[in-house]
Amino acid sequence: MLCCAADTITRRDKALASLIETQPYNFDMKRAQSARGLAGIIRLMDGFRLHYAGAISALAISSIARTAGLLLIGWVVDDLLSPQATLIDMTAGLGHILPQTVNTLRPDLPSLLPLAALAFLLLSLVQGGFSYFSGRWAAYTAERIAWRTRNYLFDHLQRLSFSYHDRMQTGELLQRATSDVDAIRRFYVEQGVGIGRILVMFVVSFAGIMMLSTPLALFSILAAPFLIAVSWYMFGKIARKYEELQDQEAKVSATLQEHLSGVRVVRAFARQEHEIERFEGDNWRQFERGKELLMLNALYWPMTDLITSVQLVLGVLLAGYMVIDGTISVGDFVAYVGLVGALIGPLRQIGRLVVQAAQGLGSYKRVMEIVTQEREELHEETAPPVRDVVGEVEFERVSFRYDSATPVLHDVSFRVRPGQVIAILGGTGAGKTSLVGLLPRFYDYTSGVIRLDGVPLEDYPRAFLREIIGLVEQEPFLFSRSIRENITYGVGRDVSDEEVFEAARMAAVHDVIRDFPQGYQTMVGERGVTLSGGQKQRIALARTLLKNPRILILDDATSSVDTETEASIRDALRARGEAVTTFLIAHRVTTLMHADIILVMADGRIVQSGTHEELIAQDGIYRQTYRMQSRIDEELEREMADVE
Ligand SMILES: Nc1ncnc2c1ncn2[C@@H]1O[C@H](COP(=O)(O)OP(=O)(O)OP(=O)(O)O)[C@@H](O)[C@H]1O
Ligand SMILES: [Mg+2]
Repeated sequence: MLCCAADTITRRDKALASLIETQPYNFDMKRAQSARGLAGIIRLMDGFRLHYAGAISALAISSIARTAGLLLIGWVVDDLLSPQATLIDMTAGLGHILPQTVNTLRPDLPSLLPLAALAFLLLSLVQGGFSYFSGRWAAYTAERIAWRTRNYLFDHLQRLSFSYHDRMQTGELLQRATSDVDAIRRFYVEQGVGIGRILVMFVVSFAGIMMLSTPLALFSILAAPFLIAVSWYMFGKIARKYEELQDQEAKVSATLQEHLSGVRVVRAFARQEHEIERFEGDNWRQFERGKELLMLNALYWPMTDLITSVQLVLGVLLAGYMVIDGTISVGDFVAYVGLVGALIGPLRQIGRLVVQAAQGLGSYKRVMEIVTQEREELHEETAPPVRDVVGEVEFERVSFRYDSATPVLHDVSFRVRPGQVIAILGGTGAGKTSLVGLLPRFYDYTSGVIRLDGVPLEDYPRAFLREIIGLVEQEPFLFSRSIRENITYGVGRDVSDEEVFEAARMAAVHDVIRDFPQGYQTMVGERGVTLSGGQKQRIALARTLLKNPRILILDDATSSVDTETEASIRDALRARGEAVTTFLIAHRVTTLMHADIILVMADGRIVQSGTHEELIAQDGIYRQTYRMQSRIDEELEREMADVE
């Protein structure tokens, strides 16, 4: 049973993959960029324009059928149902010679009426059928574009630079990738088609009334300019309000997202009350913006209602007088009442639709703001390395700063030979994480040069560097998938269980995982077990070790692991015997004292460097730290001994 389910899934995945390969779906959204929203949103339809044109055409046919139906009713009333004057010879019965006219219905009416009914039915079918296709094609276009856009954003967001993500709030990005994409979807399915419907209905109904009477037709659209003027005015106001609302909504969802992620901190500091107050403030502002928007809407509808009603009443009144005058027939009147509704009524929707369309265009801009961000080049072809990397790393007067002006690294120079272990010690904020983050090119350094095997780092494609560099981050992140999937995350191939176990053993976590009831299939986080800090770190370590990197970076990777386990991890790493250049960041001197080189950092500078013995012999941060930590350890040991 399980096999078959998996089978279906892979088949579906394959079908999906081949679909995505096809032209309309691997659309480069950058091509849809335009300063004018409308032009852009039309470009966004690339690959689906025919469908959309079909939707609008079907709409036109449907409207024409509706108008023709109303004209048919008028004709039935006039030409079929109106009594006809018949000359009757009254002499026969009464002896009078005077002939008389009597109104009677036409004699072939019984055979004509079903025909007329049939024609009406056919027109209704055409109207309904094309209306269906119009809706269907428009929905198809909209859903496909939304799907494609979401896929693109998901992919694109993961390729943007680290500094972009540093700058943007996750909640804000989330909102753009969901709510804004939905506004674009609605643009195609509701506003685009809606505005098309109104225009088509207007033109077709107007032409229909023209066939009845030109003056009546002209009189019937007197209100149109007023309606459009009011809509235009209100449109500007409402659109601005909407943007404010969207911004505020983004703020609220960002707050929500952040506090869900940081829920432990909030509770640990018993800050719920304070945070709720803050959230209430933001939420209140959103409510106010929403209310203002609703008020404007509430004002708009009665205003346009009034204009439309006056126009309708006056039009019907005029048509009535025209019947009395004999300018138009009763049948024309009946047709007019039907037609004028389709002429002027929908016109008042144009304001709403234009406003919503403007919202859609606003959303388009917000989405394109992400799309136009430059991606981090992963595979750029600058001197691709022809040989295997040995792992010699050299920093020469490297300085670096994040977006802000304050430098984080100053003039950092050192050299690591292949297979050496280089340890970095330093206070918090000294720049250790920033330093190692330069190696996989998460950020580009500002000046100086970093060489890997003698070649400047920027000559290597990022994708290549990230393949050969294994990084265990200070705060490792695990996905809510199974432990096995988390460990095999970084390797793009099938991995045998034995390999996974081996990596886990090296990270001293194999036994722990095996003790879970579901072993390696245990789900992490969200719906599965919540791991301890040390377990998380060890799984992250196993994940990196499985990758078999040429350069290994352990950023405080064993900080939540007890000393004994840490020692066994260190032994396992050493026993591997391969020449893996290792960067080891730690706060405990015992962790890094065996390194080949130890760098001591303070305020972004290297203040000391050498082996443990050399550094112990010097007066400086290293010796102070070492002595303090040893003293604490000794005291601890003594206390433990006392307890026992
Ligand atoms: N993404 C970032 N954007 C801007 N500034 C940053 C960023 N990350 C770190 N910094 C700044 O860079 C400086 C060095 O930070 P870094 O994370 O490298 O310190 P660290 O030595 O790893 O500290 P710790 O031992 O606490 O992990 C800090 O002053 C920090 O404020
Ligand atoms: Mg750090």
